[in-house]
Amino acid sequence: MSEHWWRTAIIYQVYPRSFADSNGDGVGDLPGITSRLDALVELGIDAIWLSPFMTSPQRDAGYDVADYCDVDPLFGTLADFDALLAAAHERGIRLVVDLVPNHSSNEHPWFREALAAGPGSPERDRYVFRAGVGKGGTLPPNNWQSVFGGPAWTRITEADGTPGPWYLHIFDSSQPDFDWSNPWVHDRFREVLRFWLDRGVDGFRVDVAHGLVKADGLPDYEPPAGGSMGGDAELAPYWGQDGVHEVYREWRRVLEEYDGERVLIGEAWVLPLRRMAQWVRPDEMHQTFNFGYLEAPWDAVALRAVVDESLAAFGGVGAPSTWVLSNHDVIRHPTRLTLTPPPPQGEGIGPRSPRVDEASGLRRGRAATAFMLALPGSSYLYQGEELGLPEVVDLPDTARQDPTFIRTEGRHYGRDGCRVPIPWEADAPAAGFSPTGSSWLPQPAGWGSHARDTQRGIPDSTLEFYRTALAARREHGLGAGEIEWLDAGPDVIALRNGGLTIVSNTGTTPVPLPVGDVVVASGPVSDGELPGDTTVWLRAD
Ligand code: GLC
Repeated sequence: MSEHWWRTAIIYQVYPRSFADSNGDGVGDLPGITSRLDALVELGIDAIWLSPFMTSPQRDAGYDVADYCDVDPLFGTLADFDALLAAAHERGIRLVVDLVPNHSSNEHPWFREALAAGPGSPERDRYVFRAGVGKGGTLPPNNWQSVFGGPAWTRITEADGTPGPWYLHIFDSSQPDFDWSNPWVHDRFREVLRFWLDRGVDGFRVDVAHGLVKADGLPDYEPPAGGSMGGDAELAPYWGQDGVHEVYREWRRVLEEYDGERVLIGEAWVLPLRRMAQWVRPDEMHQTFNFGYLEAPWDAVALRAVVDESLAAFGGVGAPSTWVLSNHDVIRHPTRLTLTPPPPQGEGIGPRSPRVDEASGLRRGRAATAFMLALPGSSYLYQGEELGLPEVVDLPDTARQDPTFIRTEGRHYGRDGCRVPIPWEADAPAAGFSPTGSSWLPQPAGWGSHARDTQRGIPDSTLEFYRTALAARREHGLGAGEIEWLDAGPDVIALRNGGLTIVSNTGTTPVPLPVGDVVVASGPVSDGELPGDTTVWLRAD
């Protein structure tokens, strides 16, 4: 396998709850993924990022881990994991697992022991406990708010029934933050890394990689309105603190003891990108998700600016840029790129939000994908985008499970709309997701019309468009290429990479199509015209 595989890889995110359910309980599982791997080989990906499957009470869909070294029975067993890893490797697909080091579940034995051991114990020092303020300590230690809404602190009751200190949770109250100033925490996580590296994983996607270390003294902080995961990371005392980099240097040293090229991929939601690039300096992580790119609107000027900014920022530290449009935390991009402006990350959309026309959303989504896949570096795909899935808007309130929805009492819909189990076969129960037809989030009417089997072999389907683009990207070496911008009219962005000319029309008026054979087209092109919301890749001999 090629050297530095991650520099050009197409990495496909599998969200295990919603990928494929083998046992019929309505929740996807590891044997389900194994049974569907050939579809991913056919698609043409290089690696899988597997969202959390470790033991968890599932209060935040597995991002609340109660045992870092075991599989949640909902998803299977460690033997099922080993079988999945072996099956992926046999097919030449690498597997990167999600690691959640900012917080554990409140049901993790480490947290339970911290509660039981009482004030002043070393166990308490594993997490961030602080006395409350005000008379009787009835107020939280500072004004920090949870990313999911409400205060970032919860007060405990001691074993003898007296009110105790408060613990910090930047996310849900079921997700207490670790105290990364404690070497004990460092030791445990190095063990966790080794546990999975010894099993043969190809790396880790590190959750909230900009969190972990908090500013000394935990000073009060007022985030700007609409701030999301990291929108204001330059200032927040819980994001992007200098000390966090030492953690990844330590982890990089662990990875380098292992053979093969194992990677660290950071969810470091810190903008601007030159700041994010600090996570991928040569002795730290290998890559981060390019959220600057994800947040860019479908607009020629904005796209060119963010691509230049990305290449300069990541190139400045010797790292490849990555590109991403969708994941399990954001509105699926065919829908999102049509909302101007989209709501801040995490707020989501639902029945009371403005409607997006699905056909025009998909057209734009495909054009955006074709532009992204032409860029040098590594790209991330989120399961179901190759089927052209839109965000599911009409989930009933009673079905919603995202803690954001619960903690904001429904003011924010949250992220469930991009997590609906994906369709495989139009005429099968749950559109092939589950043999019993059960599905942990309801699939909307007509979901089967997006099913893989309805698209396979149909030339202008979204699935075949993705396959063609991924194959052409590989054939022309675009991932390892360099771009050269070409002059283009208003609303048009054009570049050359790997001997191909790539042109996107981000406007609505057709523009003349440059000369050349069409290698990839995100939508119909004819009569020498490139319609709006369309991208083509051309070869001019
Ligand atoms: C990351 C995950 C998200 C999760 C949060 C807390 O942002 O991607 O799904 O809710 O961290 O772990």
